[in-house]
Amino acid sequence: MNKRNPQTFFVAPGGRLCGKLRVPGDKSISHRSIMLGALAEGTTEISGFLEGEDSLATLNAFRDMGVSIEGPYDGCVTVHGVGLRGLKAPAAPLYLGNSGTSMRLLAGLLAGQSFDVVMTGDESLSRRPMKRVADPLNQMGARIETGDKGTPPLRIHGGAQLKGMDYAMPMASAQVKSCLLLAGLYAEGRTCVTEPAPTRDHTERMLMGFGYPVECHGAKICVKGGGKLSATRIDVPADISSAAFFMVGAVIADDSDLTLEHVGINPTRIGVINILRLMGADIEIHHPCEAGGEPVADIRVRSSRLRGVDIPLDQVPLAIDEFPALFIAAACAEGETVLRGAEELRVKESDRIQVMADGLAALGIDARPTPDGMVIRGGRPTGGRIDSHGDHRIAMSFAMAALRASGPVMIDDCANVATSFPGFVELARNAGLGIVGDDHQP
Ligand code: S3P
Repeated sequence: MNKRNPQTFFVAPGGRLCGKLRVPGDKSISHRSIMLGALAEGTTEISGFLEGEDSLATLNAFRDMGVSIEGPYDGCVTVHGVGLRGLKAPAAPLYLGNSGTSMRLLAGLLAGQSFDVVMTGDESLSRRPMKRVADPLNQMGARIETGDKGTPPLRIHGGAQLKGMDYAMPMASAQVKSCLLLAGLYAEGRTCVTEPAPTRDHTERMLMGFGYPVECHGAKICVKGGGKLSATRIDVPADISSAAFFMVGAVIADDSDLTLEHVGINPTRIGVINILRLMGADIEIHHPCEAGGEPVADIRVRSSRLRGVDIPLDQVPLAIDEFPALFIAAACAEGETVLRGAEELRVKESDRIQVMADGLAALGIDARPTPDGMVIRGGRPTGGRIDSHGDHRIAMSFAMAALRASGPVMIDDCANVATSFPGFVELARNAGLGIVGDDHQP
């Protein structure tokens, strides 16, 4: 759908970000709220749901499997759960667009169903690695085939009896962990996943919120098959990954003072705050509270002088989606910023190391890609034209770079911004960014 509407952003140089705003709902939590709501017994009410293409792909997949879902109406969704055994075979392959989270998590929960399913995606998703979920699921007794290169489509054969297993994940991936825990709900015995480093724990928190026991022993997380999920109410906080663009924008633009409201600050997601603070950013956390089992707060960000840093390795999985924005901060910092241990960035919606390095070079910044990261020498970005390669986070990051650029920034192939951040152009313009799209976003 997005190929028909490539969309270009035109961003005037300079400006500042001020005021208060709330970015859309958390994408990871929105996906999980539909999945667990659908598999629960009873009716789950969700508020703050992200009405972006990715989470809507998950919602539509469950409708295709017979689940009755009302909304979204202004972020409110009602899911009439069918129980763990109540899904029905879809009439056609499930199309998941750009959404890796939908495909990988669904692979786990569909592996133990009685029916066959095929999952497909757009051009970007069709290039992404799926053996990381198919292989361990097959070890549990599932029957899943990937395409030739280990990429989508995924063909899942129904009727497999899954057996719990102990799996040491080779990479720090919340999608793989969540996939296996969801398969574990259908498996005989216990399924345990050990992670090499902490990753986002929304699945574990939400399973517990739905009354499903989860055992956490340090890096090892286990579930036992045969339980049930009980419907609940979920308040989805604003997405820290979407807030990150505004945090970086406010830090790099002179005279900025911006408050981002009701943002999820789960400790497994706050690498962006930790890294920006290490670089010298003025970030305050106000009104911390809890919403739906997740910590939430308002985040106040003011213009700051940034310095380059060696990004601590333990922060990498905690900021994995925020590196495009953090690279823009590094491009505006004094001195060198070095990122290592982030090879996962090469298999996101685009190869985020190469695409960001190319874009930074187009703005006159010295950025050297390495196999697992980047070395960036900060300076003053010029204007220029960027190819976002259809990657939503790359498009929004370069839009913010214009706040410090000496000339206009033009960004091509931006339609996928709607996968995670519907209304970005308007919200950013209201906050003070000189951005226009070549058509109007919803
Ligand atoms: C996500 C996990 C991360 C992240 C993605 C969302 C999730 O992916 O990049 O945007 O919701 O579980 P990986 O598990 O591949 O690191």
